[in-house]
Amino acid sequence: MAGATRRPVLVTGGAGYIGSHTVVELLQDGRPVVVLDNLCNASAESLRRVERITGLPVPFVQGDVRDAALLDDLLARHDIGAVLHFAGLKAVGESVARPLEYYDNNVTGSQVLLQALARADVRRFVFSSSATVYGDPESVPIREGARTGPTNPYGRSKWFVEMMLADLAEADGRWAIGNLRYFNPVGAHPSGLIGEDPSDVPNNLMPFVAQVAVGRRAQLSVFGSDWPTPDGTGVRDYIHVVDLARGHLAALRRVESTPGMFTVNLGTGTGYSVLDMVRAFERASGRAVPHVFAPRRAGDIARCYADPSHAEQLLGWRAQLGVDAMCADAWRWNCRNPDGYRGAEEAGSV
Ligand code: NAD
Ligand code: UFG
Repeated sequence: MAGATRRPVLVTGGAGYIGSHTVVELLQDGRPVVVLDNLCNASAESLRRVERITGLPVPFVQGDVRDAALLDDLLARHDIGAVLHFAGLKAVGESVARPLEYYDNNVTGSQVLLQALARADVRRFVFSSSATVYGDPESVPIREGARTGPTNPYGRSKWFVEMMLADLAEADGRWAIGNLRYFNPVGAHPSGLIGEDPSDVPNNLMPFVAQVAVGRRAQLSVFGSDWPTPDGTGVRDYIHVVDLARGHLAALRRVESTPGMFTVNLGTGTGYSVLDMVRAFERASGRAVPHVFAPRRAGDIARCYADPSHAEQLLGWRAQLGVDAMCADAWRWNCRNPDGYRGAEEAGSV
């Protein structure tokens, strides 16, 4: 087994936000990686930054998880031992407008990848699912056994893959599958070298807050002040992306040792409101974050936070970093890279 753990880990979507942070943790844990990414929502600059952080090379294949021939070739060339599957599309609003793209990329992409892995006899697999599969939860904190029922095509694409994985694990006992339901990933690597780099106006709260603090946008619209929450704004379980990345290492160890499928929430277990997060960011940055109240956003829910105890029991993992670190690290990344990876392609800009 010890030898097996040194086989490279294939990281699909490894140039993206969560994938790049996970590649850092893998390399720092002594695990070789191969990144597969089609760069539809990422820059290869993220991987050059990962190389700077770790001092190690990051083998990269630019390609699509739906390309079976490319996967067969990649798996024949590299002695892949396990796969972390991040590649996919993730914008809820876009998924409502273009559902077929989401089902094709997220569901067909996962299916084509799993078929190639079966051909290559690689059956250790960790999947990026989302708390969005719970839809509007009946109660919080949410446990893994809670009712699922996503309310948009993005969420359903994740849910369908979860069901495909459960069927696969049931049909063939050789598979070892970790299904990770992330809550709200935020923050950046403490080096300030990698972070979240939205290509357009950010949909999510924290990248928007950061862009207001750095002066790129005038103000934040707070979507709803009349939710049934302590201060009337939406409550979420924000988790530092480095904690999330470390959760993947714990999941990887599990799939390397134990066949079958497990599902865990990756969250902190604590809910913070929009206004809590605005105040935390103001503290971390020393900047004001002007905000106005706006109507509720369609499809939003009042509260969503995890019961993370199953991940602790099963994987020995729990989140360590609090909101102050999330905001301080996001602020450092935004200050040093006000235009994200764009423009930073010239050396010495960080
Ligand atoms: P991201 O967009 O930064 O990363 C996804 C990466 O996958 C990108 O680098 C993109 O270029 C690549 N990609 C997309 N389609 C591909 C394809 N067909 N073939 C190869 N590469 C492809 O997003 P992220 O925030 O890092 O999310 C990673 C995963 O986690 C996604 O599956 C996402 O749905 C899931 N997730 C994210 C969040 C979140 O809030 N960020 C929450 C829950 C789950
Ligand atoms: N919000 C604002 N203003 C903004 C953006 C967000 O007030 O400009 C509020 C939202 O209304 C919500 C909270 O900030 O109350 C968090 O919103 P995000 O968009 O950051 O996160 P969501 O919880 O709505 O969505 C995230 C992921 C989705 C996933 C969902 C459920 O982005 O992919 O969690 O797990 F589907």
